Amino acid sequence: MAVDKRMRAIEGDITHCTVDAIVNAANGTLLGGSGVDGAIHRAAGRELLAECMTLGGCDTGEAKATKAYRLDARHIIHTVGPIWHGGGQGEARKLASCYRRCLETAVALGDRTIAFPAISTGAYGYPAAEAAMLAVSTVDACLRSYGPETIASVSFVCFDRRTFEMYESVLSNKR
Ligand code: APR
Repeated sequence: MAVDKRMRAIEGDITHCTVDAIVNAANGTLLGGSGVDGAIHRAAGRELLAECMTLGGCDTGEAKATKAYRLDARHIIHTVGPIWHGGGQGEARKLASCYRRCLETAVALGDRTIAFPAISTGAYGYPAAEAAMLAVSTVDACLRSYGPETIASVSFVCFDRRTFEMYESVLSNKR
């Protein structure tokens, strides 16, 4: 079954993306961290942390939006991925929820282009290949409910070549 052509994989730094919504792989406090969370907070500037401090944290699988400040976007959508414990603790369901809730939040905000990092595949240890397959299939299913006038493009931004090649192969195998 061909996947929706609005999805693409790109290799690069998500803080350099020009899209309506940039997704952050945060932790439950929403008060910053390392990895993509650290990069987004550094690039967006200190005002981002000030707004995050008003949000009261975020549950795993949920999403909360803030302004984008110095990023070239309308919003940052913060989501908290599952920590990998071997796959037997609902990790796949929680990761799918991250992608679904971020898309729902973007649609609610009128954001038509969205960029995702590879949520949970860094510090949270989720195997990158499984995460890529889950991300693509979850987003593909969601895109059936959203026409191009609602969601125009979904970019999977990969920080390294290995992750990029995984997404490319998932997307091309399903084309
Ligand atoms: N642009 C795009 N992707 C990036 C960037 C960046 N600037 N920096 C890192 N990444 C990639 C990583 O290479 C990995 O593929 O984002 C993916 C997710 O890795 P992490 O950032 O470690 O996120 P995650 O695994 O979800 O762990 C979240 O780490 O930074 C803390 O506060 C965060 O506690 C939370 C945890």
